[in-house]
Amino acid sequence: MKVLEHSTLVIFGAAGNLSRLKLIPSLFRLELVKRLPERVAIVGCSIELRQREEWIAEVVKMLEPVYPDGIDKSTLERFCARMHYHAIPPGDNAAYQRLGQMLEEEGLPPNMVFYMSVSPAAFPEIVDRLGNVGLLKETSGWRRVVIEKPFGYDLLSAQTLQGSLYKHLNEPQIYRIDHYLGKGTVQNVMVFRFANLLLEPLWNHHYIDHVQITQSETLGIGGRAGYYEGAGALRDMLQSHLLQLLALVAMEPPLTISAEHLRDEKVKVLRAIRPITQNSVHAHAFRGQYTSGSINGKTVPGYLEEEGVAPDSTTETYAALKLFVDNWRWAGVPFYLRTGKRLAEGSSAICIRFKSPPQDLMRRTRQGPPPPNWIMLGIQPDDCMKIEMQVKVPGLDLHTRSLSLDATYRKDNDEDFDAYAGLLLDVLQGDPSLFLRIDEVEAAWRVVDPILKVWAMERDFINGYQAGSWGPRGTYRLFDRDDQFWRHSLNLDGANLEAY
Ligand code: BG6
Repeated sequence: MKVLEHSTLVIFGAAGNLSRLKLIPSLFRLELVKRLPERVAIVGCSIELRQREEWIAEVVKMLEPVYPDGIDKSTLERFCARMHYHAIPPGDNAAYQRLGQMLEEEGLPPNMVFYMSVSPAAFPEIVDRLGNVGLLKETSGWRRVVIEKPFGYDLLSAQTLQGSLYKHLNEPQIYRIDHYLGKGTVQNVMVFRFANLLLEPLWNHHYIDHVQITQSETLGIGGRAGYYEGAGALRDMLQSHLLQLLALVAMEPPLTISAEHLRDEKVKVLRAIRPITQNSVHAHAFRGQYTSGSINGKTVPGYLEEEGVAPDSTTETYAALKLFVDNWRWAGVPFYLRTGKRLAEGSSAICIRFKSPPQDLMRRTRQGPPPPNWIMLGIQPDDCMKIEMQVKVPGLDLHTRSLSLDATYRKDNDEDFDAYAGLLLDVLQGDPSLFLRIDEVEAAWRVVDPILKVWAMERDFINGYQAGSWGPRGTYRLFDRDDQFWRHSLNLDGANLEAY
């Protein structure tokens, strides 16, 4: 466990959604488990004028829903003592100068993290202003900037954003966050692969038929139309979270698990993804948009009825891709990725399907085709690992059936932290392993850019899918063979669910 240095965490957009739902509760959780040293100050920055006491009251309001049975008093006192507030009203050019003065006058630690919990359009301006008043110079302590996703909206804009950051920052100072990398089970993909030798001989095109990576949500866009209309599922989830999962599943063992070695391997895999030409976009990508339907017995509106969505919007709320990693290990193995809002269930999982044995010696013991082996890693809602195998049914005859080896490895008293807690700690500790390097971001944009271009041109039509379903029907055309299908459930009886 690294020791945290005294530092100041400045959150821009501190009164916004991300801060309210994730950052403040995660910081409080770190306080609860005593992982924040005494001299870590937290400065909330937002456009509203507020006194420090008013900000503290706001912070308590953010925490109340997380602790309905009451908040531990002494922890709350310690936490609130760290809180400061600074208003940056729009158009107030002197506000950054005053921020610098305030940090100095209050004697806050000179090691500083600036967290951009604001709309992506505001990243360059804030960094520029911080830079112009000298707050990013590492003269009296280190300076780090956390950039939320999306990092740009395509390759070119990502490079432009990067250029504007480099005016004031070096690469090691930039922490591009992808909160999926902070999830325990996502990190477990590495442990699972690299701490267990038994899997390595199987982890390649000789044995693996295909890989599926799914992230499904029952939620809609929840008041984020302003952002989501311009983003869509491909940018919002696939370019970032799902490609990162693919990279962890497919990468070669890194030399060490140091940040640079790890990221070197992830970049190599992302670069090995076969480019999708504009002509082949339809064979590799499918999009859809939810129409009204029912989720958990409740009627929900379609995307076009959501507040702030254009009546003729063709923004996708579902995206599925077929990708190939053209390297020695993965030649010919399709990676199917899908994500969607307002789907039948909220879950994320990696499902790896194995090939059938070379000879089907057991064909007389069952009806139908041989059930393949699967290895599945559930990311949420439950972290688990399952392996499906064939066994003999007890009895006089040689009949086989599938068995699920279910290793739900979380124990009742295991601690559970939100992804943001670990990532905030990593930034304060200066560990960039779980943050994206610019070449990773660029490689991921290169994968999706051609699809974005084609979809942007085809604005007349988008496939609908009913809220509460498993997405648009046509998505099945992505599969290479008839015996490949989306796996919706990690349970045995869910393996062969109907087409969508
Ligand atoms: C965010 C996306 O990055 O991830 C959201 O912007 C999405 O649209 C969210 O809902 C999903 O995260 P999680 O951790 O709930 O799976």
